[in-house]
Amino acid sequence: MANVAVIGAQWGDEGKGKIVDWLAERADMVVRFQGGHNAGHTLVVGENVYKLSLLPSGIVRGTPSFIGNGVVLDPWALKNEIARLGAQGVTATPETLRIADTCALILPFHRDLDGLREDASGAGKIGTTRRGIGPAYEDKVGRRAIRVCDLAHLDDLGPQLDRLTAHHDALRAGFGEPPIDRARLIAELREIAGFVLPFAKPVWRDLNAARSAGKRILFEGAQGVLLDVDHGTYPFVTSSNTIAGAAAGGSGLGPSAVGFVLGIAKAYTTRVGSGPFPTELENETGERLGVRGHEFGTVTGRKRRCGWFDAVLVRQAAAVGGITGIALTKIDVLDGFAAVSICTGYKLRGETLDYFPAHAADQALVEPIYETMEGWQETTAGARSWADLPAQAIKYIRRIEELIRCPVTLVSTSPQRADTILVRDPFSD
Ligand code: GDP
Ligand code: IMO
Ligand code: MG
Repeated sequence: MANVAVIGAQWGDEGKGKIVDWLAERADMVVRFQGGHNAGHTLVVGENVYKLSLLPSGIVRGTPSFIGNGVVLDPWALKNEIARLGAQGVTATPETLRIADTCALILPFHRDLDGLREDASGAGKIGTTRRGIGPAYEDKVGRRAIRVCDLAHLDDLGPQLDRLTAHHDALRAGFGEPPIDRARLIAELREIAGFVLPFAKPVWRDLNAARSAGKRILFEGAQGVLLDVDHGTYPFVTSSNTIAGAAAGGSGLGPSAVGFVLGIAKAYTTRVGSGPFPTELENETGERLGVRGHEFGTVTGRKRRCGWFDAVLVRQAAAVGGITGIALTKIDVLDGFAAVSICTGYKLRGETLDYFPAHAADQALVEPIYETMEGWQETTAGARSWADLPAQAIKYIRRIEELIRCPVTLVSTSPQRADTILVRDPFSD
């Protein structure tokens, strides 16, 4: 029985939340393994719309949910999200949600620093979600972080807190900000500890036991491969590894724990924040994609940039991300276009490239080579079987499969949970 990892195959917002929620019916547990509340997933179930950032998307179905050690956790954001979903009838209790006691915490000064840096960067800003994700990961790697397990030992933070505040006070001084108020920080942590600690567990033990018992584990990635800190459009990336390879390390399981890797890709491309985007359409067609696709960020409400499907980028994402099959989402957004284009390669200084170059200057300069196909006038919205799709839409999907060298195993045709076409069940592999 394969465990399944779901990862984004573009720049995030591909519809991972919808697909994870849908697959969660077949899973015994859902595990987040990287990122934090920079993620924003919208799930639509009948009349109900759920917006999740930090909580695994399985929580909506009541599937046991885990936040793995690779996640950076803002405890106040956690509390707010649990309260917000509670008001919608979705409950997260220590029985249904477990948080790795080794997660590094996002603290208020991480959020401050993220915002201060962005404000000071002018045109060169990354366009982060300003949630403190980058600064929290920096402290984790710099061995200064306060972790979930430290919440039970707040009187013993001593030298660790010295290192952390010395580092941040110097940075804050550079921005003209006052030093960290340590007494206030400890008081705030003491207050939130009572909320977080009942969820804190050695998650790796539960997951290893589940694996030994043959349970089906669904790993839920956030962001997308093109935002991966190693493989993405650096420096316009997030601060974690978003590839499937991170699922095992970010949850406390060995690499063989992941069987099927389901990459989620939109039938076109979007990006929120700064950075290169070869197929971006800053014209009426881009506007039309944005309006039809409701392309506004779940987390920040920012307008997403829109463009044609880039098969070069998704092929690269499939390779470095370890993707076994693709779930192609939002095909319905392309309904009614007279023609649809796919990027099949790039021109760079007179040469043809079949991959995305590493350097930011080259990435900004590449010009897409397009293949244009006739569109379809019928609606695909709400289609639940292959037979419901117009012939041209099937042709488009088949061409994408060829170009990215990866099979399409699911197609999503609306935000609704049930409007999903299953071509091959990732769990049955
Ligand atoms: P995630 O971050 O990858 O989970 O994606 P988001 O939730 O941020 O963005 C995807 C958006 O598209 C959400 O508003 C979904 O409700 C919506 N969505 C997902 N799948 C489909 C689909 O097949 N068709 C349409 N029209 N919308 C979809
Ligand atoms: P989901 O899980 C889209 C982008 C930000 C910015 C860059 C760095 O919903 O797909 P960060 O706050 O992580 O330091 O920002 O990454 N970004 C996302 N874009 N979807 C996301 O998550 C994102 N999470 C971060 O816009 O460009
Ligand atoms: Mg999103």
